[in-house]
Amino acid sequence: MGCCCSIFCHKRRAFRQESLKHNEDLGNTDTTRYTYKELAKATENFNPSNKIGEGGFGSVYKGRLRNGKLIAVKVLSVESRQGLKEFMNELMAISNISHGNLVSLYGYCVEGNQRILVYNYLENNSLAQTLLGSGRSNIQFDWRTRVNICLGIARGLAYLHDVVNPHIVHRDIKASNILLDKDLTPKISDFGLAKLLPPNASHISTRVAGTLGYLAPEYAIRGQVTRKSDVYSFGVLLLEIVSGRSNTSTRLSYQDQILLEKTWMYYEQGDLQKIIDSSLGNDFDVAQACRFLKVGLLCTQDVTKHRPTMSTVVGMLTGIKDVDSEKISKPATISDFMDLKIRSMRKENEIAFASSSTLLSSIMAHSSPSSSQETTQASITFTTISDR
Ligand SMILES: Nc1ncnc2c1ncn2[C@@H]1O[C@H](COP(=O)(O)OP(=O)(O)O)[C@@H](O)[C@H]1O
Ligand SMILES: [Mg+2]
Repeated sequence: MGCCCSIFCHKRRAFRQESLKHNEDLGNTDTTRYTYKELAKATENFNPSNKIGEGGFGSVYKGRLRNGKLIAVKVLSVESRQGLKEFMNELMAISNISHGNLVSLYGYCVEGNQRILVYNYLENNSLAQTLLGSGRSNIQFDWRTRVNICLGIARGLAYLHDVVNPHIVHRDIKASNILLDKDLTPKISDFGLAKLLPPNASHISTRVAGTLGYLAPEYAIRGQVTRKSDVYSFGVLLLEIVSGRSNTSTRLSYQDQILLEKTWMYYEQGDLQKIIDSSLGNDFDVAQACRFLKVGLLCTQDVTKHRPTMSTVVGMLTGIKDVDSEKISKPATISDFMDLKIRSMRKENEIAFASSSTLLSSIMAHSSPSSSQETTQASITFTTISDR
């Protein structure tokens, strides 16, 4: 216990120095420290039947506290060193912030070698499982619901980027990290990779982690994290929500596999509505859906300064800000990114460990929304070229 506590304190000190006094001490927050016994009781001894999710971090269980409150208990896998860093990250990033479109942290447990985060339980799981999953959900994502989900995520991100100080870059915005409550209000979750952006810093350089298909090229190639890297990921997610399919899908024919490329193709042909989810029938506002798709294309522009800020995105989605006057160029897609990656590998005389086709298969394999390990896998794939 003493040893673990000292790791905990040391990590927190290190994190604090890095994060320039963000959020200070957990003792100043409302974050509750739970005992392991309490959480074991709440989850019926971490019973596999209560398991509701699994990711790079460990397992997530549904539980009920003695006061009747439903909770989601995120247990760090004991052997994961990367997980310990993610645990501290997540704890420090989210413990003092609160917004209707972010998950709320109830507390944590550090006992022996156990590290656990406790969240409010969200009834409708993640967008990856419900909207993009393979038919396991009964939820009807009608157009109004999708509009609310897109706007909610945009507002949550605008809060992290522009209201919280220092700003927070989430770094892993994707469908499996957007949870839905009983009213289908979206909540951004999983702050394991979040970074605090020091004041006046244009970007921070870091080891690349995140999920292929959602990674902004400047981040994937040079490890430069800015708020605009989240904007890129949000753009991909926006297209997924409007089209009802995930950005990469190996089940489709080759030219249809990458949603972002397909959306751009239809945009150029003046046929953008063809990408809208056909399961919506006629029950949606075509002009509004096309506006959302254009915002998705703007968010994924290659040049970061051509991407809008998240606050501007909120204005564009609500119709307060005009989108049609914006010039939209070809977005940075996975294929471009792959070419660049291979060129940069050659330039830096690094071992070319994959041909373009195997790299593409690896991107595809790791980008399926049902793959629970996707964040970690992406991180492993890119460490070789970006860890500097
Ligand atoms: N508060 C919650 N309510 C309901 N389900 C949750 C909650 N938190 C996580 N989950 C489920 O567990 C999965 C993994 O959680 P996440 O926080 O993304 O962990 P990881 O860091 O391992 O990816 C989510 O995709 C979701 O299905
Ligand atoms: Mg996750």
